[in-house]
Amino acid sequence: MAIERTFSILKPDATRRNLTGGINAVIERAGLAIVAQKRVRWTRAQAEKFYEEHKARPFYGELCTFMTSGPIVLQVLEGENAIAKYRDVMGATDPKEAKDGTIRKLFAVSKGENSTHGSDSAAAAEREITMNFRLDEIVG
Ligand code: RTP
Ligand code: MG
Repeated sequence: MAIERTFSILKPDATRRNLTGGINAVIERAGLAIVAQKRVRWTRAQAEKFYEEHKARPFYGELCTFMTSGPIVLQVLEGENAIAKYRDVMGATDPKEAKDGTIRKLFAVSKGENSTHGSDSAAAAEREITMNFRLDEIVG
């Protein structure tokens, strides 16, 4: 295994309920370091571009509306096996299926409003980090 970086978003349902610190505590407790973080609000165009792989899915419009409904926190997480590890720490997409102790089990509202995003592959992590951060904003 190797030290990796992955891309994370704390979604609008999380910022709305003041859960930035609570979710960050779970991330850090899992051994992932938050090496970049910024709070932003996306435009519709930014959300549509970020999620373009889901364009044909029935939830695409709803997802882009949700992701622009309030502030989000963009993060780069670093650690051993970070991409797969963060997917484990987040839990299943639907909180009803997420395991105890995972972020989505602890905090998510629903399958759509599920508190976090995490890259699902090395290629996705590279794309998503590059889209959202300059190199000098990441301090490992
Ligand atoms: P993410 O990309 O946010 O890390 O989540 P994921 O891999 O677990 O889920 P994915 O299949 O990539 O879907 C992206 C996001 O779309 C919303 N979604 N809503 N209503 C629905 O059936 C539905 N399915 C997916 C969720 O916000 C999901 O995280
Ligand atoms: Mg995904």
